[in-house]
Amino acid sequence: MIVETQGLTRRFGERIAVADLTFSLDEGQVLGLLGPNGAGKTTTLRMLGGLIAATSGSATVCGHSLGKSDAANTAIRARCGNVPEVPGFYERLSARDNLRFFAGLHRLPDAHRRVDAALDRFALGERRDDRVSTYSKGMKQRLSIARALLHEPQLVLLDEPTAGLDPLATASVHSLIRELKAKGVSLVLCTHSLEEVEALADRVLILDQTVRFSGALAEFCERVEGVVIDMRIDALPDGMNLARQDLSRYVFDYAPEEVPQLIRRLVAAGADISSVTQRRTSLRQRYLDLLGER
Ligand SMILES: Nc1ncnc2c1ncn2[C@@H]1O[C@H](COP(=O)(O)OP(=O)(O)OP(=O)(O)O)[C@@H](O)[C@H]1O
Ligand SMILES: [Mg+2]
Repeated sequence: MIVETQGLTRRFGERIAVADLTFSLDEGQVLGLLGPNGAGKTTTLRMLGGLIAATSGSATVCGHSLGKSDAANTAIRARCGNVPEVPGFYERLSARDNLRFFAGLHRLPDAHRRVDAALDRFALGERRDDRVSTYSKGMKQRLSIARALLHEPQLVLLDEPTAGLDPLATASVHSLIRELKAKGVSLVLCTHSLEEVEALADRVLILDQTVRFSGALAEFCERVEGVVIDMRIDALPDGMNLARQDLSRYVFDYAPEEVPQLIRRLVAAGADISSVTQRRTSLRQRYLDLLGER
């Protein structure tokens, strides 16, 4: 396990930001961290990265106990890459000098070469000597991701990495996440994009101060709600569990194991079937079902 937390809790004065958070994450897995504004997602990422202390509870991150000692926190920071909600660069320094500074904090060998390679990789090479204050939002975000990966972390904590990015830039962040995952890097992806989680995450953690759901993505969305059949048919046989019909699209209430029999009956009744799909609950629907009533 790359992350294992037990009852992690953080208060700010009287306010509880995160209460009793218990979850784990394996090597090479992507955890989608979801929850409404103010749910405690950023606070969770900052605790995991060793940037703020937990009020109570414990966590092991990359094999070290969080907050146990300065040495443990330093080891965690050396293995974690952070893409914070707000990038936080030295605006009056160039992108290159910013990355050189952060490479210096990690005492990276070969820092200059790494920094230039990172700038090229994130298509900032041409603008590397420009002050960060002259960068667009998307450019700052790419620089933030470049910084997070400079020291080749085992765990990458991404706080809304695609917020405000154009579709192409978003797609390139998504392929980067897949690439890191394929290398065995673990990622916590905090986002408000349910599509992003559906496309990239192995596990989901839904937070609303406390954990509302934690488990595999498939487990969260697995409720099957019947079958959708596109077909032409003159008359439907009697006794079919038709839930809904919209022109040539029919939705039946049948369990997956009943579908072959259903199709045989339809074909026997002269149906020209063009497609059959299972209707699964979308992540969006499950999310709204879970948090809608709060
Ligand atoms: N430094 C702080 N001082 C006081 N309260 C804080 C601090 N940081 C966070 N909080 C509080 O903790 C709670 C959780 O905030 P957090 O930023 O973790 O939420 P979030 O899930 O990231 O929200 P969003 O989706 O809006 O980014 C909020 O009530 C917030 O006001
Ligand atoms: Mg946040």
